[in-house]
Amino acid sequence: MTIPRHLAVIMDGNGRWAARRRRPRIIGHRAGARAVNLCIDFCLERGIAALTLFAFSSENWGRPEEEVGALMKLFLNALEREVVELHRRGVRVRFIGERGRFGAQIRERMQAAEAQTAGNTRLALNIAASYGGRQDIAAAARSLAHDVAEGRIQPDDIDEALFASRVALADLPPPDLFIRTGGDTRISNFLLWQLAYTELWFTDTLWPELDAATLSLALDDFARRERRFGLTGDQVADLETSA
Ligand code: FPP
Repeated sequence: MTIPRHLAVIMDGNGRWAARRRRPRIIGHRAGARAVNLCIDFCLERGIAALTLFAFSSENWGRPEEEVGALMKLFLNALEREVVELHRRGVRVRFIGERGRFGAQIRERMQAAEAQTAGNTRLALNIAASYGGRQDIAAAARSLAHDVAEGRIQPDDIDEALFASRVALADLPPPDLFIRTGGDTRISNFLLWQLAYTELWFTDTLWPELDAATLSLALDDFARRERRFGLTGDQVADLETSA
C-alpha cells in the first residue's frame, strides 16, 4: 500500500465539538490537543515521514481576545509538556509562520523545541502557527526581489524551482495527502504553493473526535488514487513500470 510521505492537516471543529457539549470553545481546543498526539502516534506507526499541522492561521489573531489568550496558554503548556516526549520518540519539531507575532515566552520555547529536536529523523513535525499561504508566497517573492535588487540573481533566474526553494518546508517533499476535519471542504489559506498536486481528503469528523480508524480511511483512499501530475494514465503506468 502506498503511504504518503508527507501529510498536511487542517484540524477543524474544536469550537463546534465544545458547543455541542455546551462548554466554552477552549475546552474544544484542549480536547483538540489530545487529538494532535493521536495523529502524531498514527504517523509514527505508519511510517509517515512528515506531518504538517495547521495550529493557528494568520487570520485566527482576529478571534475574540479571550480565545486567542487561552490558545496561547495551551500552546505554551503543550510546548512545555510534550517536547521531551517528542524528542524521546525521534520527532523533529519545527514551526512555520510569522513567529514575531507571538510573545517572547512562546518564541523562546519554539526555538528551544527546534534546537532540542533538530537531530531527530523519525518524523518531521511542522506546526504552522500564525501561518498563511499567501503570506508565505509573498515572503518568498520578497526574498527573491531582495536578491535581484542586490544583484545576486537576475529576474530571469526566477523559475519554479528557485521559487519553491524560498517557501516554507522547502527541504521536504510537498504534502502527498491533505486532510481536513470538521466538514468544510476548503484549503483556507494553508500551504497554497505546496498543495498544488496534493490529494485532498475531507471528513465531517470534528477534530477532537479524530481516531485511528478515520485516519486509516484517509490512507486507504489515498492508496487507491492515481496521481497523474498532469500526465495521462498510460504515461504514469509506463513510468511506474520503468521505475
Ligand atoms: C480550528 O477549530 C482549530 C484551531 C483554530 C486551533 C487548533 C488548535 C489545536 C488543535 C490545539 C492544540 C494544538 C497544538 C499544536 C498543541 P475551530 O476553533 O475553528 O472549530 P470550529 O470551526 O468548530 O469553530
